[in-house]
Amino acid sequence: MKFWEELKNKGGKFMSIPKSEKLRNACEEKGDECLLEKIKVRIDGIETEVNKGTTILELAKKVGIKIPTLCYHKDLCLSGICRICVVEVEGLNALQSACSYSISQEITIKTHTKNIRRARRDILELMLARHVGECYSCVKNNNCELQSLAKDYGITSYTYGHSNKKIENKDNSSYSIMRDPDKCILCRRCIRTCVDLQEVGVFNVVNKGIDTKISTFGDKEMSDIICINCGQCVNRCPTGALYEKDDTEEVWKALENPKKHVIIQTAPAPRAGIGEEFGLEAGVPLTLQMNTALRYCGFDKVFDTCFTADLTIIEEGTELLLRLQDKLVNNKEIALPQFTSCSPGWVKFIEHFEPEMLDNLSSAKSPQQMFGSIIKTHYAQVNNIDPKDIVTVALMPCTAKKFEANRPEMNSSAYKDVDYGLTTRELAKMFKEIGIVLPKMPNSEFDEPFLGESGSGVIFGATGGVMESAIRTVYEIVTGNKIESIFEEGNIIPIRGFEEIKYAELTISQVGEVPELLKGLFDNFEFLKGVTLKVAVCHGTANAKKVLKNIKEKGKLSECHFIEFMACPGGCLGGGGQPIPTNKEIREKRAKAIYFEDKYSTIRKSHENPAVLSLYKEFLNDGPCRGRSHKLLHTKYTKRGNKIE
Ligand code: SF4
Ligand code: SF4
Ligand code: SF4
Ligand code: FES
Repeated sequence: MKFWEELKNKGGKFMSIPKSEKLRNACEEKGDECLLEKIKVRIDGIETEVNKGTTILELAKKVGIKIPTLCYHKDLCLSGICRICVVEVEGLNALQSACSYSISQEITIKTHTKNIRRARRDILELMLARHVGECYSCVKNNNCELQSLAKDYGITSYTYGHSNKKIENKDNSSYSIMRDPDKCILCRRCIRTCVDLQEVGVFNVVNKGIDTKISTFGDKEMSDIICINCGQCVNRCPTGALYEKDDTEEVWKALENPKKHVIIQTAPAPRAGIGEEFGLEAGVPLTLQMNTALRYCGFDKVFDTCFTADLTIIEEGTELLLRLQDKLVNNKEIALPQFTSCSPGWVKFIEHFEPEMLDNLSSAKSPQQMFGSIIKTHYAQVNNIDPKDIVTVALMPCTAKKFEANRPEMNSSAYKDVDYGLTTRELAKMFKEIGIVLPKMPNSEFDEPFLGESGSGVIFGATGGVMESAIRTVYEIVTGNKIESIFEEGNIIPIRGFEEIKYAELTISQVGEVPELLKGLFDNFEFLKGVTLKVAVCHGTANAKKVLKNIKEKGKLSECHFIEFMACPGGCLGGGGQPIPTNKEIREKRAKAIYFEDKYSTIRKSHENPAVLSLYKEFLNDGPCRGRSHKLLHTKYTKRGNKIE
């Protein structure tokens, strides 16, 4: 079935099918023959029934038996490489790996015999023999799957030895991703993440036997290969072999320097995730507690990145309308669909892999970078502070934001617009260092004047959120009608959720007056009357590749006007800097928290945010996409291709 037919048959949504489930799905498609075929099993004396194709690991979970895993990850295809999950299947001589053993006939399984325990211990001890390092000096201390298995199995000595002498050097070359190969257990989760989810393919297995290792192309440093800095490999690495570049010491130094005015902006996704670092269930937002904790750390101002998310929508939405006007009225050759540009991993991906499509990228900077340039210009001026004494910190769910902040072009204030990017994990570490128990902090609001009051800014944290915000604003600006007249409560359901590629259409049947803010750019919106606006959303760069391919082949997605791309699965809430572990259920809970915040916001549309409108009045007075806003809020991209940068 062709991509587009499949898309349509699924009601505009291209359903995500994890590769590990494809085999079972093929079986299920046979309907009664297969799907309904139940198989009798006995596991550790418990008798039950499962669908044909269920793995032993799934069965064990269902009946409440814990089988250890290391190479297995819910988001990834099976590899069955580490063997820590071995079990006994009656009638088979060799131990079988539970994660990859698919049940196809009646069987009896034992999961915790003497042989199994010994085998698992041996596997663990062999891993530890090659594992260099001590937990207390490791970034993953207390959140390491290897460490917790060693604890569960009571490893107190090293039967096969253990070395504290470094074998390989750490790779600190990247702005975002650090590697410590000595802590690698060869589970290949990073390879499967980078190849299957992101289709970048940074890592591979090199050498054989005892010399086997995970390496980059040509064994080069991370700064010397094509990596989009998304951090998805970090999120799935079970040990401390991959982690983010730590900027916390630099931020502490700035906070401790009385001459510096230190400002932090916080993005929506970390608020929905940081509670996990303090033992809370995923999806408990701690926005207001975090504001208080940040002031306790010494930040002079705590601003909400949702403010510049709203600003992004005004700039990006205006840019879309200008492109449509150029095409429909002025008959210009114009790059459409317009692509969103707030995800720095996605931006680097297209710079490397499809540089000829860079004209499709919106020139609007990401909310992080817009904030940086506004702080070091307008804010500095109004508050009479020398911008050189301002340090801007961005709390983001994303490791790629560190790279973005360091792009040489991100200095439109004449200074580095954003000095440091912190991930959710790094901020949690800072809080813990000074004894903050975040859930117990009292609430406090964000600082004025840059309030991110609209729910639209908040939903930037979930896949589809940027598009939903853009549609709410563009539709209302162009038609003068309320979005609620076509989508209940303004919730644009077709582009919510975690399907790989989502699609929606919206016909503009009437147009209204050009609002004051856009006068001078448009005489009227007549050119949009009767136009069916087509939009799509995708997340994860493997899906981005599918979308780009479809556009290049002049498939149906080439008819879209606007497409949202996010590098990370789930969007920002699944970002590479978010708490570990990650999986679909966790990402869904974080998304719920984000949509909850939107639902109960008093203002839910970017163009209604009074703080944003004031900024246009007082500072960006040429209006969107012109003059000062063009200089400060827009950027250019780099054709990288195979060039490594
Ligand atoms: S990777 Fe895990 S086991 Fe190894 S030193 Fe770090 S915390 Fe300890
Ligand atoms: S950061 Fe992203 S692109 Fe880079 S190695 Fe990890 S998964 Fe691959
Ligand atoms: S770097 Fe991490 S994810 Fe990759 S193989 Fe090593 S331990 Fe596994
Ligand atoms: S978890 Fe089953 S083989 Fe690794």
